[in-house]
Amino acid sequence: MRMPGVSEATATTMGYNEVPYPGAAVTTTHPAQVGAMARLFGMRPAAAERCRVLELGCGDGANLVPMAYGLPGSEFTGIDSSVRQVETATDLARQLGLTNVRFMAMDIRDMASLGGPFDYIICHGVFSWVPGDVREAMLAGCRDLLGPQGVAFVSYNALPGWRMRGMVRDMMMYHARHFDSPEERAEQARAIVQFVDEASGQIAESSGTTSAFHEHMSFERKLLESRPDYYVIHEFLEGENRAFYLHEFAAMVSNHGLQYLADSSFSSMLSTNLPAEVRQTLETIAPDNLALEQYRDFITNRLFRQSLICREDVRLERRLDVATLTEMYFRLSAPPGPGPWPDDAAPLPGGGSLTLAAPAAKAIIGVLREAFPAGLSYDELRDAAGKPEGLDGGSDEYFGGVLYTLLAHDAIDIRSHRPTMVTGAGTYPRASSVARAMAPRGQSLPNLMHYAVSFEGFTDAFVPYVDGTRDRAALGVVVRGLLARPGMVLQTASGPVSGSDLEDPDIAAIVERLLDGLASYGILEA
Ligand SMILES: C[S@@+](CC[C@H](N)C(=O)[O-])C[C@H]1O[C@@H](n2cnc3c(N)ncnc32)[C@H](O)[C@@H]1O
Repeated sequence: MRMPGVSEATATTMGYNEVPYPGAAVTTTHPAQVGAMARLFGMRPAAAERCRVLELGCGDGANLVPMAYGLPGSEFTGIDSSVRQVETATDLARQLGLTNVRFMAMDIRDMASLGGPFDYIICHGVFSWVPGDVREAMLAGCRDLLGPQGVAFVSYNALPGWRMRGMVRDMMMYHARHFDSPEERAEQARAIVQFVDEASGQIAESSGTTSAFHEHMSFERKLLESRPDYYVIHEFLEGENRAFYLHEFAAMVSNHGLQYLADSSFSSMLSTNLPAEVRQTLETIAPDNLALEQYRDFITNRLFRQSLICREDVRLERRLDVATLTEMYFRLSAPPGPGPWPDDAAPLPGGGSLTLAAPAAKAIIGVLREAFPAGLSYDELRDAAGKPEGLDGGSDEYFGGVLYTLLAHDAIDIRSHRPTMVTGAGTYPRASSVARAMAPRGQSLPNLMHYAVSFEGFTDAFVPYVDGTRDRAALGVVVRGLLARPGMVLQTASGPVSGSDLEDPDIAAIVERLLDGLASYGILEA
């Protein structure tokens, strides 16, 4: 029997006290992004700048604190059963002097005591890794604490994709079973994957065949090699790890008086962005939206989902309306990269690009490229993209249709609120206080669009000094000082730089490059 309270709750997640999980800003959990998705499907969610947000399993606050910083008119509550993580989160909020965020050591099973209503509930990286009763309590809690137009974000390992990864986990769990310390378990888990990869490769080679199994193991091994121990420990070696088909998740949600609203990624809900034949078949075999997404998961072998849910009595509108877009802010979903970029292509997350044919699409992407990393309102975008001769974008109906197409292909993202940021470094540049506070922690930094940005160690060391009190000359002195630190290395296009013998122009160029990087990643504020 479990009693409410911190000590009992902590006992269930000793792992996170022993090996904390460094968090990060997750842009898809941000109320401006969740709210925009809910709005597309006919809801009237609370405005991001004035809402109440609850995060379950908030970890070290790396997601909630930057949100609270960027939305001072909203209120944030984070709960986590790991006392250590809650202390870290509280320290960060205190360091920033934030009064609109609180963290509590509390088990999800006790969340009812928080009282609602909340406009947004976030539960990222928890659902698959907790026992069934916690999952049930989480959904019941969402039903009880969500406001009438409230939206919850729940992420989880998805099937069928996790079936293949689950096989790797089974091997890791089996091989690591006799080891106690988390570090040893991680080491042994990596070792067995390496062995199975090599052994399956040798077997395939000796029989002169190719092996899909070996290819899969090589892929998983490479993935593990790029990940730190804490990830291996919590992602693979937790006692509990359940993956769900979307239809199973939707059924669980429905058992709790809730309904499946949408995926966090608009593009993954559609068939229109798939090859014509695939699209035709999907549309023939899928009787409704949920089935379409489920079949889509089959053909993409999806292994992770970020689902949005709401109360079952909310009336959703599945027909997309261009008028809704007039309330949104738009931004390129991937950086255009340095140097010239072709007019007929949009950068995509993951490094690819989308070829653009329609003049309006080219104009929209061109304007958003100029504005990047900031975004533009519908009216600003309509004005700017419609102005060049011959590119008037047609009617609002046509213009909205083009925006939906770009959204469907992941070329742009939308949100319901525009953050304040500057896109160029002024005379006394200033990195956001939250980025400066988090930089010494060696984690990714939240940018002002609530994306996690990972910089090299030198930039992390530089960021705290970019506090609005130093001009470029003073920042040059900082760079000199940092370069003189033992072991400090700056990676540049012409190779690694360290030591104290650089000429002034070289230092000035380094300062400029660092500031450009911070500006283009949305770290600088006015
Ligand atoms: C993988 S971490 C994810 C943390 C954060 N949401 C993120 O995505 O970075 C899972 C978190 O859930 C917390 N947790 C696990 N079981 C819990 C429970 N029953 N009640 C509250 N928190 C729990 C853990 O302490 C841990 O901080």
